[in-house]
Amino acid sequence: MCHAYFIHFERSVLRRSAFKLLEIDDKHKILKPGCSVIDCGAAPGAWSQVAVQRVNSAGANTEFPKGFVVGVDLLRIAPLDGALFLSNCDVTDPATQEKLQNLLPGSQADVILSDMAPNASGFREMDHERLVAMCLSVADLAERVLRPGGSLICKYWDGGQAHQVQSRLACAFREVKIVKPKASRKESAELFYLARLFRK
Ligand SMILES: C[S@@+](CC[C@H](N)C(=O)[O-])C[C@H]1O[C@@H](n2cnc3c(N)ncnc32)[C@H](O)[C@@H]1O
Repeated sequence: MCHAYFIHFERSVLRRSAFKLLEIDDKHKILKPGCSVIDCGAAPGAWSQVAVQRVNSAGANTEFPKGFVVGVDLLRIAPLDGALFLSNCDVTDPATQEKLQNLLPGSQADVILSDMAPNASGFREMDHERLVAMCLSVADLAERVLRPGGSLICKYWDGGQAHQVQSRLACAFREVKIVKPKASRKESAELFYLARLFRK
């Protein structure tokens, strides 16, 4: 009952990009109250809004445990109740990854989200390769901070180098799926890795 209310509220106020995460999470139940979450490429903040509501990091529901959300982006991210943000920071930089680790309760995360994307150059293969490199950095971050049993949702653009990300995730997680939410345009190369049960 309470959960249904949450969903109704969030759908009425969120930006369109959030619907991809809502759809994935409705189906796979990754974000639970009390979870610690890192949102990579968080600006302008729609995915973080979803995460804040689902892990209860603003403490809106006193019956559920309070979670934690930290978002990071190259751009400025507007403040959001229930989230900490590292604006103007590059997720691929080890110094940013160290900052994230220091901010996390117990230095560990339950979930890493990445909707990161480079600015499109117009050259599909080049953009694909740049996003693959970013996904591999997110995998580095997972190795550093993800709790055993933790999950990762990571956007990529389909192409010839995606296998590099897939094999890296397959080594680190017990379960790796490729998902394409309905909210993602059919003609777009955008896909998401959903990796679960991180093995430390
Ligand atoms: C599609 S947008 C994310 C939208 C966000 N999930 C939302 O729902 O509001 C992609 C973001 O990735 C960010 N980004 C790209 N490269 C990055 C990097 N190396 N480190 C941090 N953020 C990055 C961009 O600045 C951009 O804001």
